[in-house]
Amino acid sequence: MAHERTVKLRVKRQDTPGSPSYWQEFEVPYEPQMNITTCLQLIAAHGRTAQGQQAAPVAYDANCLEEVCGSCTMLINGRVRQACSALVDDLLSTPDDVITLEPMTKFPVVRDLFVDRSRMFEHLKRVRAWVPVDNSVDDTPPPLMSQKVQEQGYPLQRCMTCGCCVEACPQVNEHNAFIGPAAIGQAMLYQKHGIGQNLAEERLEALRDTGGVAGCGNAQNCVKVCPKGVPLTDAIARANRQLTIYSLRRWFDR
Ligand code: FES
Repeated sequence: MAHERTVKLRVKRQDTPGSPSYWQEFEVPYEPQMNITTCLQLIAAHGRTAQGQQAAPVAYDANCLEEVCGSCTMLINGRVRQACSALVDDLLSTPDDVITLEPMTKFPVVRDLFVDRSRMFEHLKRVRAWVPVDNSVDDTPPPLMSQKVQEQGYPLQRCMTCGCCVEACPQVNEHNAFIGPAAIGQAMLYQKHGIGQNLAEERLEALRDTGGVAGCGNAQNCVKVCPKGVPLTDAIARANRQLTIYSLRRWFDR
């Protein structure tokens, strides 16, 4: 009988929040063009480790399956990225290589590879990364955005809040309240928005507070790992410039 090619995976597992983690090995049938999400589905279907022991399906988060929602972000061979766009063929140097899967380390683990990214969404709230609207009916056309503002905003709005930049940033850790690059990038997106700029001062106040822009250590890991090419370091530099001008203005206005 011909030997069926398989994919070997080593998965870091954790049964409940706060419980000890452990590793399990799995082997699934190889398919051309398969991605890591497919591997996880095959693990669930097979229900056994590579050693033949019964194993619960590996928990992970996913939604769009096309690198748009960011929910399947995890560490794959030590690199933070999305499971749905990580092709097995690109991860293996030889067919015998073992692919390792781990949850992100900067977010609390819910179970296995599934983490709670609420912290990121709280940081978006903190920097008012939204356009303020009320429920009143208003026929006034929205303010037009110049070509330049549109071109500045477009790369920033590609952010899918996946957590890659937060995971890679050494300044985001248990000793530091730094909100991370994604929230700063989104704050800068709305600073220029025709309606969003109504909250410009509140955003700057949040960004100069504890854990704000001053927490950036300029490691620049964020731009290296961002799957969407969001210009995060440019956004942080822009935030710094706006904060300097804002602080000077406040000082002269005293
Ligand atoms: S499932 Fe949405 S990015 Fe992977």
